[in-house]
Amino acid sequence: MSKPNSAEFAQCGDSCIIAEMVNIINPQNLSVGDNVEFKYGVHVEAGSTIKIGSNTHFAPFCVLYGPLSIGENCAFAAHCTFAAVGHGFAERDTPMVQQATTAEKIIIEDNVWFGANCTIVGGVRVGTGSIIGANSVVTKDVEPYSIMGGTPAKLIRKR
Ligand SMILES: CC(C)(COP(=O)(O)OP(=O)(O)OC[C@H]1O[C@@H](n2cnc3c(N)ncnc32)[C@H](O)[C@@H]1OP(=O)(O)O)[C@@H](O)C(=O)NCCC(=O)NCCS
Repeated sequence: MSKPNSAEFAQCGDSCIIAEMVNIINPQNLSVGDNVEFKYGVHVEAGSTIKIGSNTHFAPFCVLYGPLSIGENCAFAAHCTFAAVGHGFAERDTPMVQQATTAEKIIIEDNVWFGANCTIVGGVRVGTGSIIGANSVVTKDVEPYSIMGGTPAKLIRKR
């Protein structure tokens, strides 16, 4: 695997770091601000637009499926998955892999911290200043400055 070339991105700010074994599909749909870091093994599928604000970093093995809008100063611990896409399942007699895929944009506002092993499903917005505890599955919008945890993620308390 060749290392992604940030010159192929739609936009790339200054001082970004792309570690070994990072894989970026459709880099022409990826925009990143300054000082963004993709650590070892991050996988980005930008079939739809992905925008990432400055000073945001992704720990090893995070997986990003667009469409996504991620703010500034966010931290994503290892093995977080942004599942903005899925398989249609309305027809029982057609294999799900043959049904139309779904895509609903995920929006992460500024200054959000995700603990390790979180998954966020399509169509969800996470408000600024929030924390998502380790191993959580986020299925609904999160109010700003919330601390959430569990599957599905529930409010633990406000910051
Ligand atoms: C979410 C988190 C920040 C909360 O920290 P905290 O405010 O100190 O919370 P507490 O330990 O006081 O726990 C408060 C309650 O939330 C629960 N809770 C804490 N983390 C939780 C999680 N990830 N999922 C579900 N519930 C959680 C606790 O069990 C406790 O419940 P109780 O009141 O019924 O006993 C922390 O637990 C966490 O998940 N940190 C992520 C660490 C990480 O992944 N680091 C990777 C490198 S950045």
